[in-house]
Amino acid sequence: RLIIYLDKLTSTMDIAHILAEKGYPHGTVIVAEEQTQGRGRFERKWYSPKGGLWFSIILRSKDLLIQSSFLGIIIGVSVLEVLEKFLKDIELNFKWPNDIEYNGKKVAGILIESIYEKELKYIIVGVGINLLVDPNDIKDLKAFSLRDYITTYDKNIVLIEVLEKLETNLNGFPHNWKEIFNFYKNKFPYIGKGVFIRNKNQKAKVIDMTEDGGIVLLTDNKVQKYEWGGVSLEF
Ligand code: BTN
Repeated sequence: RLIIYLDKLTSTMDIAHILAEKGYPHGTVIVAEEQTQGRGRFERKWYSPKGGLWFSIILRSKDLLIQSSFLGIIIGVSVLEVLEKFLKDIELNFKWPNDIEYNGKKVAGILIESIYEKELKYIIVGVGINLLVDPNDIKDLKAFSLRDYITTYDKNIVLIEVLEKLETNLNGFPHNWKEIFNFYKNKFPYIGKGVFIRNKNQKAKVIDMTEDGGIVLLTDNKVQKYEWGGVSLEF
């Protein structure tokens, strides 16, 4: 497996795109100690100080056939399965579509960028985990560092395990979907709770999740389904 470790860069996403364009193979990973222009979904900034686990993976070949909702959930589940193994005293959960959080504060985020040229050419998956970040560094953000709850100080062990778990889970798809989906849904504590639909400025209630990771909301006595990541919600 090709893993490129870099000290400080703009964003592992940028480097991964450059290397993917140059033909670097499926599974290439770029890791950085620190990012100066880390980015998140919806063009948000992603603060990436030292101590975090920040990496991007180039995906080609058969995995490209996986729809991004399945892919996003498979990545989220792989990350959480591994984090759980190394955690003591706390339990993490998902916030739809695939943030990982503790007590409503963000622990990890996933960014998927797909490049098309007539057809899908490659996908860059970015994963950011506030693993060993100094909690003081992020105390003003709605973020949470695992530093004081993790049983290893070796970020690389966590990275390797995530990559292995992801490979197993991707190779097992679609047969393992039920299992993956159940893990995901079981760690989604928002069913029955109120949410806010950002672009509509509207309150809603989460009533269920669909088998492919979509969300079912109730607004003004109307039931509405959104596909995975298809709407921006405030929980
Ligand atoms: C989100 O929750 O909005 C997604 C956050 C993704 C952050 C990771 S850190 C590694 C990779 N490089 C980036 O610039 N972003 C992703």
